[in-house]
Amino acid sequence: MQVEPIRWRGDSLELLDQRRLPREVVWMTCRTAAEVADAIRDMVVRGAPAIGVSAAFGLALASLRGDDIPTAAALLRSARPTAVNLGWAIDRMLQSDDFVAEAQRIREEDLAANRHLGRLGAELLGGNATVLTHCNAGALATAGYGTALGIIRAAVEGGKRIAVFADETRPYLQGARLTSWELQQEGIDVTLITDNMSGHFFQQGTFDAVIVGADRIAANGDAANKIGTYTVAVLAKVHGVPFYVAAPWSTVDLACPNGAAIPIEERSAREVTEMFGTPIAPEGVAVRHPAFDVTPAALITAIITERGVMRAPFAESIAEAAR
Ligand code: MRU
Repeated sequence: MQVEPIRWRGDSLELLDQRRLPREVVWMTCRTAAEVADAIRDMVVRGAPAIGVSAAFGLALASLRGDDIPTAAALLRSARPTAVNLGWAIDRMLQSDDFVAEAQRIREEDLAANRHLGRLGAELLGGNATVLTHCNAGALATAGYGTALGIIRAAVEGGKRIAVFADETRPYLQGARLTSWELQQEGIDVTLITDNMSGHFFQQGTFDAVIVGADRIAANGDAANKIGTYTVAVLAKVHGVPFYVAAPWSTVDLACPNGAAIPIEERSAREVTEMFGTPIAPEGVAVRHPAFDVTPAALITAIITERGVMRAPFAESIAEAAR
């Protein structure tokens, strides 16, 4: 089954409700930009490219309804702070004079970018490889096909035998709920582990590579991704396992000099203290919930975009790819 999380219906946007996967496959219909902004904030749709595409269609809805575009754009832009794809898609829409056509182009280009970077990344994997991934950088997180999981798809399509280990990804469980589901849909070999098990498997020599997505890549190669990615990158470095970041070029923020300048979203404490509405911690306990962390460029083996495979020194390889 080809997973695609976003459907444009001409006068409405349908989003596969990722809060309810894998238990239920339910679509949510959005008819206004405000509804799309809520869906992004509540993580009905999530993943950097997917929220960019959704915001683009949110502006398309606003233009069809004759709503105030600057207000709609501001609402969508403020939905989540870390993924640069959101602002990138909105800026691109605001330069267009046909919002529906432009949103469709953004979606198609994302799909094409994923397929292209998937092929480039697949070449980095051996014929028989076990790959660790964190969070969900798959079809569900993009217009379709995926970035980190796109590489895995392309490798499998190319005849390679790839086994995937998926970190559960506390607290929102994108790995347990989404990556496991998505890979199962396509019959790709997936093993689910909790986040605190990966060190053990690194020690056992289980992984040939780590592949993750990104929400924003700074000009020096520092990359923000789901909380816990940095921990995995440190483990990969210690164990000599290549650590790859896969993302469309729209995730590269040339205006952001380094990881310290990337805004890190702080989400609700309840996502930490509760599981599916059930409290798992004492009431009133202090909680922190940064939703992303930054992996320094020094821990990254290569960044794979549709513009090519970039390696250290990243400031130079990214500047070169930007030309
Ligand atoms: O909070 P989320 O689920 O939106 O976080 C998603 C990630 O961290 C992904 O790895 C990233 O957006 C890349 S998706 C291709």
